[in-house]
This record gives sequence, C-alpha cells and structure tokens, in this order.
Amino acid sequence: MWQVAGGHGYIDHELAMTDMIRYHEAGFTTWDLADIYGPAEDFIGQYRRRLSATKGQEELERIRAFTKWVPQPGRITRPIVNESIDRSLHRMDVGMLDLLQFHWWDYNNPYYMDALKYLSELKDEGKIKHIGITNFDTERLQIMIDSDLKIVSNQVQYSIIDRRPEVKMIPFCLRHNISLLCYGSICGGLMSERYLGRPQPSNAELNTVSLRKYTRMVDAWGGWSLFQELLSTLKGIAQKNDVTIANVAAGYILAKAAVAGVIIGVRLGIVDHIASNSQVFNFKLDNSDRDAIDAICVKSNNLFEMIGDCGDEYR
Ligand SMILES: NC(=O)c1ccc[n+]([C@@H]2O[C@H](COP(=O)([O-])OP(=O)(O)OC[C@H]3O[C@@H](n4cnc5c(N)ncnc54)[C@H](OP(=O)(O)O)[C@@H]3O)[C@@H](O)[C@H]2O)c1
Repeated sequence: MWQVAGGHGYIDHELAMTDMIRYHEAGFTTWDLADIYGPAEDFIGQYRRRLSATKGQEELERIRAFTKWVPQPGRITRPIVNESIDRSLHRMDVGMLDLLQFHWWDYNNPYYMDALKYLSELKDEGKIKHIGITNFDTERLQIMIDSDLKIVSNQVQYSIIDRRPEVKMIPFCLRHNISLLCYGSICGGLMSERYLGRPQPSNAELNTVSLRKYTRMVDAWGGWSLFQELLSTLKGIAQKNDVTIANVAAGYILAKAAVAGVIIGVRLGIVDHIASNSQVFNFKLDNSDRDAIDAICVKSNNLFEMIGDCGDEYR
C-alpha cells in the first residue's frame, strides 16, 4: 500500500475502496502497509467495515493487515510506543495487529532496542500478534536474537536483480526460523512486457516513485542493456509456462529459501493486475529456467559490495 502514500498518481478514495474489495474477492486478502503510508491504515479500517457490513463479521477473519511503525530516531519510551500502536489499532479498526514491522533509520541511535522491548511487552498484552522488522541488516538482527527478542520476519528488497539477502540474511533467517517478506520483486513494474525491447525510459516516462527507485537499482546492477537481456530471457520462460514476465519474476523469489511472501504494489483505483498476479501460484520454474536467469545475473555488478546488506540503501 506504499502506492497510496503519494508519488504514484491520484488515488480516489471511493475507487480505492471498491478495488480493495475486488482484490479481496480474488483472494488477495493480505495487505502490507505502514503508519507513514498516507491514508493506508485508515483504508484498512474502512475496508474492514465495508466487508463486515456486506458479507458479515466472519469475512474479516480472512484479512491479514501487516502494518509498520516507523518512528523518528530519538529516545523511545513506553508511552511513545503505546500511543503509536494504539493509533494504528484505532485507524485499522482492529483489536490486535496481525504483524507489526518495525523500521529504524539510524543504527547509531541505540533506542531501537528499547522500542523492540516495549513492542514485545505489547505483544504479551495482546495488542500485537507478531513482531517483524523491515530493512534491518543481519548484524542488527543478530543483536535482537541474542537479546531473546522474538522476531518472525524481516521485510527487505529482494528481486532477481537485487540478491543481497542471499549473502548473509537468508542463511541467518534459516538458522533462526525467521521469514522474509520481499518487496521490489518486480521492480515497480519494470519487470514486465511493458519494458521489453524498449529503450531506457526517460525521467518523464518514469511516472511513479517506485519506477524511479528501481531504475536506480537497474543502473547499479548492470544497466539497461543487461536488463533487456534479462527481460528477454524472462519472456521466453513466461511463454513456456503461459504466464507473464512479472509472474516469473515473483515466482522466482517466492521459491527461494526463507521467503514467506512477495509483496506486489497496487495503484488502487488506477490500474489492476489481478488476473495476471492470480497466475503466480499456477506454475513452477524448473532448473533450466533458473539456470537461464542466473546465467545473466552472473554478468551483473555485486550489489552487496556496492550498497551493503539488506536495508543499507536507507542509511
Ligand atoms: N519496507 C520498505 O521499505 C518498502 C519499500 C518499498 C515497498 N514496500 C512494500 O512493497 C509494496 C510493493 O512496492 P514496490 O515498490 O516493491 O512495487 P512493485 O511491487 O515492485 O511494483 C508495483 C507496480 O508493478 C506493476 N505491476 C504489478 N503487477 C503487475 C503485473 N502482473 N504485470 C505488470 N506490472 C505489474 C504495477 O505498475 P502500474 O501500476 O504502473 O501498472 C504496480 O504499481 C509497497 O506497496 C509496500 O507495501 C516496502
């Protein structure tokens, strides 16, 4: 739901609500959001009330809404945490958060450990079901585990081109039974037929913040010409499996160790890819597909060396 926060076109509230119900009916019942994604948490509250009124209270059991808490770095006290979590509960109209993913901008500010301790207390009190984190690196995750914090997931950028999680994060997660929730897996839509065989889009053509973010990643990874080679290989695999390039890109990451989910952005009320994304579980990549994709990636730059571990692009 980052796409409702601005920079992705005008989101009409009523059309967005109608779309959320359509996604729900198509089986897309898990939403990723954040306290800082504009009206995202309020949208969840309204969507829940609308579903309950039209389909009954039981229908709400199917929804999972994974929000984030993204505080400004500074001293974190128990009242600050209480107030922030109560605000999310109220906006989303839930009694308990399914998953609270914690983000922290500055490792030099040590209060993130206090924040996690207080969040754990709120979990024990029943306000949060599970605690996850987002954009934390392996070194800090180790500190959390050493402090006996129960972390179920880390939300990180992970795609065919951005494989930084494979270096340290995934082996660590496998050892500690932590799952990855992945974003950027279709690069804001760059991994799709729309960009196959096309020259590098100009800044004016990159009409969402998401496209601009992942174009920078493509540039760092190896540039547009290597990316075209990748798109053309993905297209061949997509045709063989009767799916789309975006399906292959998402399916490739979904099959990776420690990955619990791929988060695909949606511009509610503007465009929908429900039919295409519904295909993602209807095919399986074979070894030759994966080998063909990996053979292109070995020609790319090493993003772990260039950027660092998961989340280092934010710091
Ligand atoms: N934790 C973090 O720091 C963080 C950072 C970024 C994102 N996220 C989360 O991840 C979500 C996804 O965001 P993202 O930036 O990674 O975007 P993304 O999923 O890589 O890209 C979403 C865009 O891809 C296009 N698309 C979707 N399905 C498609 C399909 N089947 N075929 C062709 N194009 C398709 C759509 O573009 P059009 O609308 O133009 O058609 C859509 O707006 C966000 O909403 C947010 O919840 C989290």
